[in-house]
Amino acid sequence: MSSRTVIQGGLVVTASDEIHADVLIEDGRIAALAASGTPAAGAWTAERVIDATGKYVIPGGVDVHTHMELPFGGTFASDTFETGTRAAAWGGTTTIVDFAVQSVGHSLREGLDAWHAKAEGNCAIDYGFHMIVSDVNQDTLKEMDLLVEEGVTSFKQFMAYPGVFYSDDGQILRAMQRSADNGGLIMMHAENGIAIDVLVEQALARGETDPRYHGEVRKALLEAEATHRAIRLAQVAGAPLYVVHVSAMEAVAELARARDEGLNVFGETCPQYLFLSTDNLAEPDFEGSKYVCSTPLRPEAHQAKLWQGLRTNDLQVVSTDHCPFCFVGQKELGRGDFSKIPNGLPGVENRMDLLHQAVVDGHISRRRWIEIACATPARMFGMYPKKGTIAPGADADVVIYDPHAEQIVSAETHHMNVDYSAYEGKRLTGRVETVLSRGELVITEREYTGHAGHGVYTPRSTCQYLN
Ligand code: URP
Ligand code: ZN
Ligand code: ZN
Ligand code: ZN
Repeated sequence: MSSRTVIQGGLVVTASDEIHADVLIEDGRIAALAASGTPAAGAWTAERVIDATGKYVIPGGVDVHTHMELPFGGTFASDTFETGTRAAAWGGTTTIVDFAVQSVGHSLREGLDAWHAKAEGNCAIDYGFHMIVSDVNQDTLKEMDLLVEEGVTSFKQFMAYPGVFYSDDGQILRAMQRSADNGGLIMMHAENGIAIDVLVEQALARGETDPRYHGEVRKALLEAEATHRAIRLAQVAGAPLYVVHVSAMEAVAELARARDEGLNVFGETCPQYLFLSTDNLAEPDFEGSKYVCSTPLRPEAHQAKLWQGLRTNDLQVVSTDHCPFCFVGQKELGRGDFSKIPNGLPGVENRMDLLHQAVVDGHISRRRWIEIACATPARMFGMYPKKGTIAPGADADVVIYDPHAEQIVSAETHHMNVDYSAYEGKRLTGRVETVLSRGELVITEREYTGHAGHGVYTPRSTCQYLN
């Protein structure tokens, strides 16, 4: 039995078009679009009709940077795959790509299997995996080929966190050479962790223990230096490069320069760098710990350069780096020593709304909103056009978005499993109303109607964004 849904009367916004169209969904996929009010659309019959008059009809958000249940600093990110993907759905995101972790001394396969076990049967929306590579050796390099073949086509390496996730330049070069051959995409955490650790030690020795010093030691120049080094290593290897969580304007300049040279170098930023700053890190009474993440928040002057990078396509993607830790009992681990504050911010539920606010504020266009939050992340990580657009054949991952609704962000009303909001009290125009994942209603007029286990693993092809 086929099941059909029609979404009527909305403004369909994709990365390329804005059209007043009805959308026909059949068996979990987009079957057709037809101009609203035309005989073609009028002839459709369906079991379910959703009225989207006055609303946007947009592709479900694609958040390619989340860390559900990540072990970090002796604790675990507080959202499980169940709570985190449910919160994502509330915020209009219908696909996440999370990071499976290889621990030093273990294989990629062991890490990937462990992350599959955490996610399987628990997700409200579809999910895929990148692989964090912490131990580059001959076996790991061979395993990378196998992972690419089975749909794990991107690998995160760290120039930060010596002794944990860190890779040295030789290990990075080898992984990049391998990805140049197998089609994988290296995602880089670009901060000079060796130098940062020296500055951390010196700051603590001076008694500088408050959260704000986390931002001071993780210098913008050390992000830019690492970004530059990653770019040149990728150039030597002949591999494309995706730099994650870019926060420093100096790092954006490195990306812009490399792109002007024609290199396949891409950059991602996150809402926290666009909307928050070192002022938040400096909040008294240890409140600043709520804003500790790496790369760190920067002085407000950096924000304009990030918005500019998003407009000029020197930055291509906004994802969340969702990695929540509760203030009570988790962030508090770093009282008296900022280096012990677990790194990461919650945000998987807020991204689509914050970026819509950026449309309202005039930073980006409506289509660019969808491009950086849905279409490009899907293309960058090999999921397009199944994910990231509204077109015949695509998965029916669709959000009905009310562009006029007003909301105030708060931990009181959010759905992430964390005891604070990084955007507490922020007024936003626009709100998710209804969300479909593969044609199934996950959020129905602001009621959760989904279920754990609806979301399925999504193997990915290689990057579809290369020059
Ligand atoms: O502070 C952050 N970003 N925590 C998550 C781990 C990472 O480096 O992405
Ligand atoms: Zn990182
Ligand atoms: Zn991350
Ligand atoms: Zn279901």
